[in-house]
Amino acid sequence: MLEELKEIRLKAFTELGSASDFKELEQWRIRYLGKKSRLTQILRSISTLSIEERRNTGAHANAMRKSLEEALEEKSHALKTSHFAPSLENRVDITLPGYPIPIGRSHPTTQTIEEICQVFQNMGFQIFEGPDVEWDYYNFEALNIPADHPARDMFATFWIDSNRGMKNRLLRTHTSPMQIRVMEQLKPPIRMIVPGRCYRYEATDTTHESMFYQVEGLAVDKNITMADLKGTLFDFCRCIFGDERKVRFRCDYFPFVEPGVEIAIECLACHGNGCRTCGYTGWIEILGAGMVNPNVLRGVGLDPDVYSGFAFGMGVERIPMLRYGIDDIRLFYNNDIRFLRQF
Ligand code: DAH
Repeated sequence: MLEELKEIRLKAFTELGSASDFKELEQWRIRYLGKKSRLTQILRSISTLSIEERRNTGAHANAMRKSLEEALEEKSHALKTSHFAPSLENRVDITLPGYPIPIGRSHPTTQTIEEICQVFQNMGFQIFEGPDVEWDYYNFEALNIPADHPARDMFATFWIDSNRGMKNRLLRTHTSPMQIRVMEQLKPPIRMIVPGRCYRYEATDTTHESMFYQVEGLAVDKNITMADLKGTLFDFCRCIFGDERKVRFRCDYFPFVEPGVEIAIECLACHGNGCRTCGYTGWIEILGAGMVNPNVLRGVGLDPDVYSGFAFGMGVERIPMLRYGIDDIRLFYNNDIRFLRQF
């Protein structure tokens, strides 16, 4: 009988090994562990054996039953898992490197805005945002540019509607209107910057887009002087362009400031020697600024004999254009992934 048990065991394990689905497994169970199986018969007949045989065969038969049950359990588990992950090792080379998941990144303009904001935040400036659709009042009137002012020609405007023949809503041509909105809401001391989109009704070329970004700045308090303006903006230039870069500071005109200034840095492309990028001047203008015009302060109810301030505004795209030698501003908004991916 022991011989027979051995044989059954060998057969059972061989067949179990080749069972490939649950149906075959069930048939195997009936064949080897079912009521009519030889093993069950042997176990049932044990009581009829002599004491000596009973001890020997009984122990063997029971141990075998147990090991067959365990093997069945194991095989059934293996089938279950391989059902969900069809033998990974056989079909997939798990040592191959995976497909890279394309990772997004922020737009070069966004990156530059974040960098500019960080520099001013470190100096204690607060960030504000304002509407792209603006009133004539904020974009021009309150900034000391009345309806017939020649400076309106500086800003080719997309008008949105006209009210009783008076054009009054537009796409903001600069971020300066936020100076007024913030001064209407807050009392000095004010230190704020405003990043945002601006629009100009102009033909596009390598240096002009009809939509672009600016960052505006404003500081208003008692005793603010030109020295504060110069110190703040020179510091800014050093943070963005490096300590060694020369900075030029000279007069300019903007209706909302008096006096007005312009800041230029030594051309990054030719180091001041003169090239196509800087129009052979060696300098690149990067921002306009000035002391807030007393008319502007009066317009928001601040007494220019008590308060003073400085303001500045800069184009954003210009900075990465200079840094990376990008010669066409239109690349920024064509959404060509091959361009954007480089930053
Ligand atoms: N808004 C001006 C422009 O778009 C730039 C500017 C110049 C802003 C001087 C200012 C400033 O705040 O003081 O050309």
